[in-house]
Amino acid sequence: MSYKIFARKYRPQAFEEVIGQKSVVRTIQNAIQMGRISQAYLFSGMRGTGKTSMARILARALNCANGPTANPCKIEDKDCADDKNKPCDYCAAISEDRAIDVLEIDGASNRGIEEIRALRESLKYKAIYTRYKVVIIDEVHQITKEGFNALLKTLEEPPPNTVFIFATTEFNKVPATIVSRCQHFEFRKISHKDIINHLVEIAKKEAITITPASLAMIAEAADGSMRDAQSLLDQAVAFSGDNIGDEDLKTILGTIGQDVLFRSSTAVLGEKPEDVFPLVESVVAAGYDLRFLFGKLIEHFRALLLVRSVEKPEDLLLASAEELQALRVQASKATAEDLLRYLLALQQAEAGLKYSAMPRIYLEAFLIKLCHFRKIVPLQELIRDVESLKKEPQRTLPKPPGASPAGAPPAAGTGRPVPAGDRPEGPSSAAKTGPPPQKDVFKRVLEKLAVDRAPLAALLAQYSSVMVKDNVLEVFFASGKGFFVTSIQEKDIRAVERAASEVLGRETKVRFAEENATEGGPIRPGRELETALKDPAVQFFMNTFKAQVLSADPIPASREAGPKGGGPTENET
Ligand SMILES: Nc1ncnc2c1ncn2[C@@H]1O[C@H](COP(=O)(O)OP(=O)(O)OP(=O)(O)O)[C@@H](O)[C@H]1O
Ligand SMILES: [Mg+2]
Ligand SMILES: [Zn+2]
Repeated sequence: MSYKIFARKYRPQAFEEVIGQKSVVRTIQNAIQMGRISQAYLFSGMRGTGKTSMARILARALNCANGPTANPCKIEDKDCADDKNKPCDYCAAISEDRAIDVLEIDGASNRGIEEIRALRESLKYKAIYTRYKVVIIDEVHQITKEGFNALLKTLEEPPPNTVFIFATTEFNKVPATIVSRCQHFEFRKISHKDIINHLVEIAKKEAITITPASLAMIAEAADGSMRDAQSLLDQAVAFSGDNIGDEDLKTILGTIGQDVLFRSSTAVLGEKPEDVFPLVESVVAAGYDLRFLFGKLIEHFRALLLVRSVEKPEDLLLASAEELQALRVQASKATAEDLLRYLLALQQAEAGLKYSAMPRIYLEAFLIKLCHFRKIVPLQELIRDVESLKKEPQRTLPKPPGASPAGAPPAAGTGRPVPAGDRPEGPSSAAKTGPPPQKDVFKRVLEKLAVDRAPLAALLAQYSSVMVKDNVLEVFFASGKGFFVTSIQEKDIRAVERAASEVLGRETKVRFAEENATEGGPIRPGRELETALKDPAVQFFMNTFKAQVLSADPIPASREAGPKGGGPTENET
């Protein structure tokens, strides 16, 4: 006997069976009853919440022999359907995926203009067997711009008796022009309670024994996706048989922990992208929920960071002695700074995975990116090194008239970014020279923050340059480190502003940006890049390491006297 996974076996077949989407169901049913059938529907929301199921029920509601009807024929499991409960031919054909007038198209693999044109062509002909042609496009956000334009034309002059149903996990990627021509329904996350009740029903039908505690654990892990909940139940049955114990379930949810997590971090820290594919394959084959794995990965990297940064991590970590030892060995392969970077990147990517239509590919691509992370960062440091190299000969050159002593930073208020690579270690010279230099300003801000917001201060210490202009302190992160910017929260900004206002002695706003991050980023005149490319030291690096210059920082004050108005000289005192 073939085994059918719960998610497929228990796909809702009638409007009433769609759980947790009451207002969507009611609106659609009412509209059908009143004969108000829309030309196009858009279903958006998290994966596993019933969009595709609802689209198929709607297709049957429109085409049922008794319809259009809000209550199309019941589709029983074939094995137990007796004759009098048989669905009509239309409903049967649609539910078995063999109705030629109901097209189900995957937007991910039919993204281009050619495919959409072909679709338009096919819609010229009336439905052959059914009342309505129904075109369901799943993951519609994946369609290309040109594809959307072609689709828009179709929606503007809709072929008669054709109904479009678009489904998407990423509503924000669907063009407004399309949205405005659709009746839009937002599918909600399904509540723990609804998930638990549904699992109880499935358990009853399948003669599975499971405790309320286990059900709660599953609902928690599924986080609003009925499909995820059902596949966790599948796993539990595969692991324990019909009698699921709490400990078993903890093991299932927990086993994602150890082996897989260590293999992931080994690949990342060992910079072995080639290990990612077999790793993800084994995770998928084992039936693990990838979103759940991702959450565990975050905890794992937190544990690594903790072990790397804290003297006695055992006080803060629930781990056995062996686990702790394994964590220590792994953590020793990276700096705390690297581990923090991985952790922040993971946290930032989590939401993306949750809403991804193709979580597997998302996870693969993301882990591979992490494997390359360290290669990206040293290049930034390389550029910094080039800059300090460039400063060396400068000390022996005569000072241009009016320039400050070599190496002195520009004073606050110059409006030019100051590279972080130049951070002085000694006490600031501010007392002697008036306003404190910009980088010292920020260093003091960081010191203040470190007192009670240490993690935030550690994050901000990754900055690459700062700029104080009027009442605004701008902090830049190197290009490619944009995730630092996005991981800063509103309340963090407030904290930094308080500290900056104290240090500067006036109300100060703070802004964070990634260098070279399109408009609104810091001023990066082409001139700097040009100069950099001509520089012998840069050319040496480019030739020797086959390196590329990604961005060029403005040269510190002492070397810049003269060429441009508004330069640092005016601020020298
Ligand atoms: N609201 C729901 N009520 C009952 N079961 C549901 C619901 N949502 C999802 N399921 C279960 O999950 C399975 C997958 O649901 P469906 O394909 O409709 O989700 P979806 O929202 O289209 O997800 P995706 O965005 O990943 O395509 C269904 O077969 C069903 O078993
Ligand atoms: Mg779907
Ligand atoms: Zn029917």
